[in-house]
Amino acid sequence: MPHVNKTTNLDAEISSTDLGELPADVVTDHNHKLYIETVGCQMNMLDSELVVADLRKRGYELTQNIKEAETILFNTCSVREHAEHKIYSSLGRLRYGSRKNPRKVIGVMGCMAQKDQKLIFQKAPQVDFVVGTGQLAQVSELIEKARIHHSKNERSRELAVGLGRKDGKHAEITNSFQSYDPLRDPEMRPSPYQAFVRIMIGCDKFCSYCVVPSTRGPEQSRSPREIISEVKVLSNQGVKEVTLLGQTVNSYKHTQDGKLFRLSDLLYLIHDIEGIDRIKFVTSYPKDMTTDLLEAIRDLPKATRYLHVPLQHGCNDVLKYMKRGYTVEDYREMMQRINEILPGCSVSSDFIVGHPGETEESHQKSLESIREFRFKNSFIFKYSERPGTKAAERFPDEISDKIKKRRNNEMLKVQNEISEEDNAEFIGKQLAVLVEGPSKSAQKAVDASSDTLAEQLVGRSNCDRIVVFDGSSRLAGSIAHVEIFDVTPTTLIGSIVTKEYQHNPGSSLPILQ
Ligand code: SAH
Ligand code: SF4
Ligand code: F3S
Repeated sequence: MPHVNKTTNLDAEISSTDLGELPADVVTDHNHKLYIETVGCQMNMLDSELVVADLRKRGYELTQNIKEAETILFNTCSVREHAEHKIYSSLGRLRYGSRKNPRKVIGVMGCMAQKDQKLIFQKAPQVDFVVGTGQLAQVSELIEKARIHHSKNERSRELAVGLGRKDGKHAEITNSFQSYDPLRDPEMRPSPYQAFVRIMIGCDKFCSYCVVPSTRGPEQSRSPREIISEVKVLSNQGVKEVTLLGQTVNSYKHTQDGKLFRLSDLLYLIHDIEGIDRIKFVTSYPKDMTTDLLEAIRDLPKATRYLHVPLQHGCNDVLKYMKRGYTVEDYREMMQRINEILPGCSVSSDFIVGHPGETEESHQKSLESIREFRFKNSFIFKYSERPGTKAAERFPDEISDKIKKRRNNEMLKVQNEISEEDNAEFIGKQLAVLVEGPSKSAQKAVDASSDTLAEQLVGRSNCDRIVVFDGSSRLAGSIAHVEIFDVTPTTLIGSIVTKEYQHNPGSSLPILQ
């Protein structure tokens, strides 16, 4: 095991905060209420689910009330500066409370933990431990260690993180980012019928603007054997839809028993698992969208006709600055193959506006690319300079926030128009919808009057469109046929026609976030 998997106590290095006199029974005499705040991508949501599942087995109980929790975790994101600010201000609010109650243990995990490490203790001295993305198996141990420190009237300063991308041999760095995927418990999922499954960790693409290759470490694919056994467990727990996760999920490659498995092979294996009705995967990388993968989706009815494959920019010059490794022409060729092999397949994208080198003319090209490729939806981000990245080293962050905001709004406006036009094509058509449960607004109504029979349900079509319609909440987890009569840029509105089948007829209502 590399040395980084052992934790380091930094008390000697970082000035400690006086906690006052503590009773010796503080290790055991604490409540088991756990509060966790998660920001960032689906990878982080999954990590939080797994850590919570582990802690629940050890007697912890989740609470939404941070004040009553004596164990507080922050699962952090570093992709943009704003995400980091959010966490530091949440930590700031805890500063006083943690001194008053020495039983409180505060841990920071996730990408910011990996990136900022000791800096977190300096900025937020009330933090007891910082645990990187590859050390999540150690969280429960770190909590106990913090309590032991507190009982000795010491501040805890435990640091467990992976190696930097230049801090060792490739194998050592890789080993310091261990995948953490224990068998789980359903409490924290988006709904009881949907689950994330990690198939890869890390990223080796090194886009110039992005921190992920350093916060998540080198690209590693999990073995098909592990993935399949995990999906089988999930299916036995009632999961109908799995979303396979990876930063560049379609770059998946793993050799097992002398045979190379790609994502297409994995789709075939998962397709055979009884009880699973839908398979999705995010996020795809344009250059790795191979024809065998598109053909697998075509031939496997459980694979959704939806691809999240970010273009990031519509101008070749900016794509070059970004080091994305493809041109708009390459992306166009990929889109042609998608449309030929998978007619009706939805494609969504991410874009960055205000990247260094983006001129007004190149921004116009990004707008044009939304019109040309007609994305189902796009996530549009203002460029945020990330220290340590190639972009931060090489190019000044020269575009003002005002211009970034304006370009962001222009992109959103064009995308909304396209989404609404394309959604309107569904009016009068029937779609198979995997029902997730009552919509947010319906849940409020149910809370107010618990005898409501028909309520507003929400689900997704096979092409990943959000569909709302009235029906009984007993339909949650089943596939219903819905005819669409109205649309917004984000949602299709319909009424139920038939339903094919229904699982768990007596199951309790899931609350959708
Ligand atoms: N692995 C995925 C995306 C991971 S990060 C992929 O390659 O597509 C999610 C999105 O955040 C990215 O697609 C990008 O659009 C955005 N992003 C990443 N770094 C950023 C930065 N420094 N500033 C603004 N947006 C950024
Ligand atoms: Fe970041 Fe690029 Fe890797 Fe995506 S592919 S995680 S944008 S470096
Ligand atoms: Fe953020 Fe890390 Fe995901 S930086 S976007 S939480 S991989």
